[in-house]
Amino acid sequence: MKDLLAETAERATRYAAGIGNRKVAPGADDIARLESLGGALPENSCDPAEVLALLDDIGSPATVATTGGRYFGFVIGGVLPAALAANWLAGAWDQNACMRVMSPVAAKAEDLVREWTLDLLGLPASSAVGFVTCTTMANFSGLAAARSALLHRRGWNVEEDGLFGAPPIRVVVGQEVHVSLLKALSMVGLGRSRVITVPADGQGRMRADSLAPLDDHTLVCLQAGNVNTGAFDPAKEICSRARDAGAWVHVDGAFGLWAALSPLYAPLLDGVSLADSWAIDCHKWMNVPQDSGLVVVREPEHLRRALSAGNAAYLTQSAEREPWQYTPDSSRRARGIELWAAMRSLGRSGLREMIERNCRQAGLFADRLRAAGFEILNDVVLNQVLVSFGSPEETRRIVAAIQADGTCWCAGTQWQGHTAMRISVSSWATTDDDVERSVAAMIRIANAKQ
Ligand SMILES: Cc1ncc(COP(=O)(O)O)c(C=O)c1O
Repeated sequence: MKDLLAETAERATRYAAGIGNRKVAPGADDIARLESLGGALPENSCDPAEVLALLDDIGSPATVATTGGRYFGFVIGGVLPAALAANWLAGAWDQNACMRVMSPVAAKAEDLVREWTLDLLGLPASSAVGFVTCTTMANFSGLAAARSALLHRRGWNVEEDGLFGAPPIRVVVGQEVHVSLLKALSMVGLGRSRVITVPADGQGRMRADSLAPLDDHTLVCLQAGNVNTGAFDPAKEICSRARDAGAWVHVDGAFGLWAALSPLYAPLLDGVSLADSWAIDCHKWMNVPQDSGLVVVREPEHLRRALSAGNAAYLTQSAEREPWQYTPDSSRRARGIELWAAMRSLGRSGLREMIERNCRQAGLFADRLRAAGFEILNDVVLNQVLVSFGSPEETRRIVAAIQADGTCWCAGTQWQGHTAMRISVSSWATTDDDVERSVAAMIRIANAKQ
């Protein structure tokens, strides 16, 4: 075991050290070599060191360098050194975070991260927090709490009786709602098409003036940080109207909620803390390993009721927070440990600096590309930049060429009828030099004669 782990650490260290010198996306040859990971399951056992060597030799070249400084695809963070190291140690511990009695350290890390996150984001200190795999599951959990609360008030127990014959819930979303929120609505039985869709403005913000009157059986789904533009729905106006009407507001704040860490960007979130539930991603801008997200619910009883497993005699109940009462899963990885390490290592000022640096770097991308004659399609308010290189065909061709070049990696997108390339600056590892190298490659490729 000792030799195997030492060898693994050496291989992983080599991978991490070389991340800046390789193409961001693997080549076709690297992907083709994955065939050597094997066909049929071997009949006999072999040395674990052999398995590890095969995985590294074949697997490492076929990874996407998302932990390097020049990956700007989708919205994917890197991994902070303390979070990666904590992940290794926690891997050796292999704790089941389900119950406090199964892992006191996992439960304590969750207690601390819960407290720190609510403080950092300015959310109500008594809120419940569940440690889930991603924003999709955080949306699912928040919407399950919303569904439970809205129906409970009307005398309907959805956990026991399901939705058959239940009083209807009106669901309101913005026109630029993220697809994962619609998926979550479908999973909690509220339907992805059975929604009232409020028009959005040119940045993707829900138009509060187009929102119909609210009532106490309405669930309003807001967005804090549009995946294309980074824009925020006008939470203050909508949340205060919802409060007056007794409606529930859920906020999909996958990456945008972390803007609260900086006084420069916190005004974008004005009113968000008045909502009832929030979904937050940690593997994006908090730069912890995949897979990590948080659901926050203002009144803990609703999340607990929605995700309660019932009463099996062997499940522990205690006066302290029991992790399994706040997540859809029971047994699960102790992902709170990496979050604890990330927050403990950077501290409040380090976290703020990471967010502010990425936002500044997004502005740098926009300035350089605009100066080179390309159109920036969004107001760069956060860490997302949309650039057009001309016609849709031209833009698609250039995005593909940038991806193939390998200096950096960005994805294509559609934004309100325009074809664009999306640059998301979400990694602690991105330096200004990475931005300059990447933007130089983009401009060189875009200006090259076909
Ligand atoms: C606004 C928003 N919501 C939800 C998601 C889905 O996040 P996850 O992939 O962690 O489920 C994303 C991903 O980019 C997002 O930007």
